[in-house]
Amino acid sequence: MPNRGFNTKAIHAGKSDFQPDSMTVPIYQSVAYPYLDAQEAAAIFTGEKPGFTYGRWDNPTVQVFENRMAALENTEGAIAAASGMSAIFLLTHHLLSAGDEVVSSNRVYGGTFGLFNVGLPKMGAKVNWVTSPESIDAWAAAITPKTKFLFVESPSNPSLFIADIRALSALAKSKNLPLVVDNTIATPALQQPILLGADIIVHSTTKYICGNATSLGGIICGSKALVEGIRQNGIRYLGPAMAPFNAWLSINGLETLSLRMERHCQNAMAIATYLEAHPKVNFVNYPGLESNPYHKMIMPQMKGCGSLMSFELNGTYEQATRFIDALMILTHATHLGTCKSIVTHPASTTHSAMGEVEMRKAGITPSMIRLSIGIEDEKDLIGDMAQAFDKIDSEVKVKEDFISGKFPQAY
Ligand SMILES: Cc1ncc(COP(=O)(O)O)c(C=O)c1O
Repeated sequence: MPNRGFNTKAIHAGKSDFQPDSMTVPIYQSVAYPYLDAQEAAAIFTGEKPGFTYGRWDNPTVQVFENRMAALENTEGAIAAASGMSAIFLLTHHLLSAGDEVVSSNRVYGGTFGLFNVGLPKMGAKVNWVTSPESIDAWAAAITPKTKFLFVESPSNPSLFIADIRALSALAKSKNLPLVVDNTIATPALQQPILLGADIIVHSTTKYICGNATSLGGIICGSKALVEGIRQNGIRYLGPAMAPFNAWLSINGLETLSLRMERHCQNAMAIATYLEAHPKVNFVNYPGLESNPYHKMIMPQMKGCGSLMSFELNGTYEQATRFIDALMILTHATHLGTCKSIVTHPASTTHSAMGEVEMRKAGITPSMIRLSIGIEDEKDLIGDMAQAFDKIDSEVKVKEDFISGKFPQAY
């Protein structure tokens, strides 16, 4: 659907002729697809005839989700996976062999950090971290003859680092390397990195795309050759396929994605403005704020600033946990991207396995609180936070550094 708008594609793209009578995409809750005869089976397996082979590497419902995501991310194809992490794993497994390297921003989700730090060496590969990812020179310096791709998460979880995707794409092209963007936090409703020069997109569809915390999922969007390579030589042997029911829930999520993102962005801007003015807050990481170092950069590459933010309480770890425990409308959970607002303490949960040293390098502190702002009424969210701030001592203690042993150890 090349000439259709984003919202039309989000509702119609990816459909094929297999569901002539159904208003919604049917759930093909089946792992196999009986053949007419042996000849047909052989032809489908060799690719001479279109058709489905086995649920681990293809399924009609999952295929609609894949095609729809490819349409929204402007790629030739897409391959869905059981979770965001399995999508990132399948991609690294496909692009790297023993001896190869990936260059990555260190501002990434804790699971990605662990996969690159621990998983890659098990495959004989390694990561070169870019610890100043705002500097294109730092990226260039990390590239070696063994580098096979560049990886960036933008905006990043939880510190809201924003990459200059155009500049990074230009660097990648000049070195003949693909640029992979984890677009989970922006979603294609707000940012389409392929149009900025990126080559491959990964998502945890578990988050905004699903939208209501019902189903794990991940996706890789890229060229037909990449996607079919991963289908034939990756997911087929490794197995982390997306379940048809999860694909169905995610397809339904896509229908309202752009409306939800609009409301997420509006609410998040109001909350960030409130927090920035609060005397018990040191700083707020939200690119929508004019004071944010990425504010100017975000305008040409994103349609809105998203709903994820983090802020540092002017206080201790204990005070941060007291604030979190006092919240009544925001849900305390290790998740983001749902209609419900969520509060998380990254240093003790999602990012704890990075260890204190690496967390500090990535800008994560003991009194940092992450918020994924939902689509509730903004005044109720602000009221909830106001009463939680009131529960913290008015006499704010000095800013605290990490204290060894308080958080789990590094990988
Ligand atoms: C930016 C980002 N990428 C990838 C993932 C991993 O996704 P999943 O939990 O679906 O495996 C997450 C999870 O929080 C994330 O925030």
